Amino acid sequence: MKNYAVIGDPIQHSMSPVMHNDLFQFYGLDAEMKKVHIKTEMLEVGLQSLRDMNIDGFNVTVPYKQAIIPYLDELDPLSEAIGAVNTVVCENGKWMGYNTDGEGYLKGLLEQLPDLKQRRTLIVGSGGAARGIYFTLAHYGVQQIDICNRTLVKAVALKEACPFPVKTNIMEVALAEKMLGEYELIIQTTSIGMSPKIGASPIKMTNLKREAFVSDIIYNPLETKILSEAKARGAKTQNGIDMFVYQGALAFERWQGFFPDTDRMRYSVLTQLG
Ligand code: ATR
Repeated sequence: MKNYAVIGDPIQHSMSPVMHNDLFQFYGLDAEMKKVHIKTEMLEVGLQSLRDMNIDGFNVTVPYKQAIIPYLDELDPLSEAIGAVNTVVCENGKWMGYNTDGEGYLKGLLEQLPDLKQRRTLIVGSGGAARGIYFTLAHYGVQQIDICNRTLVKAVALKEACPFPVKTNIMEVALAEKMLGEYELIIQTTSIGMSPKIGASPIKMTNLKREAFVSDIIYNPLETKILSEAKARGAKTQNGIDMFVYQGALAFERWQGFFPDTDRMRYSVLTQLG
């Protein structure tokens, strides 16, 4: 039997095991994914216990996506640039790290926006999630990606750290709100609006044009305030379910060698969310 895990602190909330175990059963694979709670400061000991149980692969969640890197034998170039890993493949004692968050986000977005490269894009936020998405979209070839953030210096640092060619203007949130009508894609990457603070919003949608597409990485609630405001203005929207499902699908593909049924995965995540 193959053994998989998802590690983090906290880990109780993770929906990955239900999603992957359902796929293992559906495809008749003799495999299981378990939640492994590794307390802060205990990463080294926790990883040793994964080695001892001869783990075949694992997902990494908060707060270990960066801290895991020194323990890996190989790192793919995009995860190296992003500086974060969420998927580890273990083969013959070698641990290889990937970042399927950014790639998963891109795959989910491309299904909705095949013309993505030409879309004038605004990213809201400059944290870890923004970094993964910004670098991945720049690497893919999106031509213009502007960034707004509450703390301007963090947005500047993000732009300076990007190793891929892309045109980027940095701006305060107030200016982005004023210029919102110029954007064809707006990507919300902060935690503002996430349950339980569901009424909060990091940016006003007043000037949004109806041809725009608004994507929020939050999936709880399924419709954040900015998504409902965008819908009310006639814009198309996407919540964070796709990113979660596709990061899982790409991890599954790395572990099993084939790409799984994402409709089935979406269904098991939505069922878990209730
Ligand atoms: P993650 O790794 O999940 O992206 P993070 O690194 O803490 O999390 O980044 C969170 C993002 O949400 C940042 O862009 C942060 O803005 P700052 O850089 O100004 O801190 C943004 N954010 C968090 N709380 C916020 C708030 N109350 N108002 C506006 N932006 C907020």
